[in-house]
Amino acid sequence: MSFKIIDGKEIADSLRGELAKKADQYSKKYGKKPTLAVVKIGDNPATKIYVNMKEKACNDNGIEFIGHYHEKISEEELIELIENLNNDEKVNAILVQLPLPEDIDDNEIIEKINPEKDVDGFTYYNVGSMYTGTERLLPCTPLGVIRMLERSGIEIEGKHAVIIGRSNIVGKPLAALFLKRHATVTVCHSRTKNLKEHTRNADILCAATGVPKMVKASMVKKGAVVIDIGISRVDGKVVGDVDFDNVKEKASYITPVPGGVGPMTITMVIHNTLQAALSQKGEYL
Ligand code: GUN
Repeated sequence: MSFKIIDGKEIADSLRGELAKKADQYSKKYGKKPTLAVVKIGDNPATKIYVNMKEKACNDNGIEFIGHYHEKISEEELIELIENLNNDEKVNAILVQLPLPEDIDDNEIIEKINPEKDVDGFTYYNVGSMYTGTERLLPCTPLGVIRMLERSGIEIEGKHAVIIGRSNIVGKPLAALFLKRHATVTVCHSRTKNLKEHTRNADILCAATGVPKMVKASMVKKGAVVIDIGISRVDGKVVGDVDFDNVKEKASYITPVPGGVGPMTITMVIHNTLQAALSQKGEYL
């Protein structure tokens, strides 16, 4: 079967070009750039890489990036920092990079972010809006997946989307976005029995498990669209959740790792920062 690789980098670059123009228009109109504050706590090397990529993407596309980096901080100090960012008129969007150190409760901290500045769409207000179908600020990775499918001309309505993974950051919100777009949705996870029986029914199969190459060709229906949201390092090489070389032979479309969903996630950080900045002025992106 001939397959098509969805080039996430190319789609992301084209979207970034469009967003950069809109960020520039915003800056000219309001005399300041849309501004994102990113909070990073601890010294997790993966977290550092993600945050650096977000910083570069913002700098290259007309978004002001303010980093608040702390090796160690108490929960009280972190809450105070977020409250200061909530009250800072210059700051349009706030991102607290997860996971936080073990002694700090992620949910408690996220809930302190003003929902209008919640660039990840992680606060209960934005999650509730998403589930009830009024989409406000949406989580960046799921939104990136949807934009990628749209830009590739892949229809979602009426399709059976199967998601492996049920995290709050990817699996659960992606299910909500597919439902809103009229897909039939199955969410599988580590306790799912007979995983293959579910995945083989997928028109669109999304893997977000963090288990390298766990999606094998035998788990995929011929002609399926395969979206790899995983990222792991094996023997110094970056790999996804999908056994790409074998699965590609059965897929109609497939995303690579790296160069698939990753660049789309970063682009959605820019998108959401701009959306937050405009919406604070009563405008829409
Ligand atoms: N850690 C892994 N992915 C994400 C994300 O999308 N947002 C935040 N804030 N932390 C993450």
